Amino acid sequence: MKHYKIAAIPADGIGPEVIDAGLQALDVLARRDGGFALDVTHFDWGSDRYKKTGALMPDDGTQQLKGFDAIFFGAVGAPDVPDHVTLWGLRLPICQGFDQYANVRPTKILPGISSPLEGVGPGDLDWVIVRENSEGEYSGHGGRAHKGLPEEVGTEVAIFTRVGVTRIMRYAFRLAQSRPRKHLTVVTKSNAQRHGMVMWDEIAAEVSREFPDVTWDKMLVDAMTVRMVKKPRSLDTIVATNLHADILSDLAGALAGSLGVAPTGNIDPERRFPSMFEPIHGSAFDITGKGIANPVATFWTASQMLDHLGEPDAASRLMRAVEKVCADGVLTPDVGGKASTQDVTDAVCEAIRIENA
Ligand SMILES: NC(=O)c1ccc[n+]([C@@H]2O[C@H](COP(=O)([O-])OP(=O)(O)OC[C@H]3O[C@@H](n4cnc5c(N)ncnc54)[C@H](O)[C@@H]3O)[C@@H](O)[C@H]2O)c1
Repeated sequence: MKHYKIAAIPADGIGPEVIDAGLQALDVLARRDGGFALDVTHFDWGSDRYKKTGALMPDDGTQQLKGFDAIFFGAVGAPDVPDHVTLWGLRLPICQGFDQYANVRPTKILPGISSPLEGVGPGDLDWVIVRENSEGEYSGHGGRAHKGLPEEVGTEVAIFTRVGVTRIMRYAFRLAQSRPRKHLTVVTKSNAQRHGMVMWDEIAAEVSREFPDVTWDKMLVDAMTVRMVKKPRSLDTIVATNLHADILSDLAGALAGSLGVAPTGNIDPERRFPSMFEPIHGSAFDITGKGIANPVATFWTASQMLDHLGEPDAASRLMRAVEKVCADGVLTPDVGGKASTQDVTDAVCEAIRIENA
């Protein structure tokens, strides 16, 4: 029996609600499979810890996580703590500290869930967005001068390195190659941003030569939003910078029905460090504690985690169960249903137990 060490960091808002749901489903899956077990360690890091101690996680936080096979993360952010403090205090130090440079965000319309796009259903929107996750606009480079004075200035510098861009392009082309349509769209803004983004385009063209069987095209990010809405079938695999993909993947989630169904894997493709799996959504203050958070994004990211750990059968079984439950209409209010988080979780666990495959 294989044992995987999982670090669970539910953190803030609905994070604990959806991570609890995800762990219930993972437990049922492991029992059903019989070939692996998940040894889960819980970390109480997050905004409550920050309010008590002044830090979201301990100084040696990443050191503590290093020995795990994967990290299962909820969401971070509290109404009474500035967002840059929470993000830079927990999630980004893990992503950047572990060089999880490929942020992989699959989106599709699940059966039983309606897209706000008229005439677009399951099969019409099936994308994977690859987000550069280690540099770009979120490199943390910049500063403020003359603080508090009328002449105050703030800079936010986007950093693009040849190494960083080449490796994300290679990852995206390889992923596109592994999917049936073998098509990649490279998102850019090289008309207005004439340095880093032009280098981004040049490196995309260079790397494309290593993948002659992958067709690819290029889109300016503003036009990309229009294409996502108007021609969703024309897209398959998409690669974009840290900021661009952050925004586009929220749009993708909404077009697939709700942010509550959109997952993400923060991957270190070289496997030097643990990778981290989380729903795309944040703490969702407006529904925290109501028991109605959609757990589907967390189930989907749990499936990504199982795939990454080398358990593709269990990963597929989980997604089949989720799709069955959605198709049966067991849905939370964000996707038009009346079910609670626990109702959906119970239905998914039952679907895993009774499946014959
Ligand atoms: N990865 C992260 O940890 C992460 C990501 C985004 C935002 N945040 C933080 O979360 C806080 C709230 O941010 P926000 O409101 O911009 O984004 P959000 O994702 O928390 O919520 C946006 C909207 O989507 C809904 N929603 C999100 N997840 C849902 C789910 N599982 N089920 C049903 N509805 C869901 C919310 O109710 C809300 O109306 C902020 O502090 C922000 O910094 C954290």
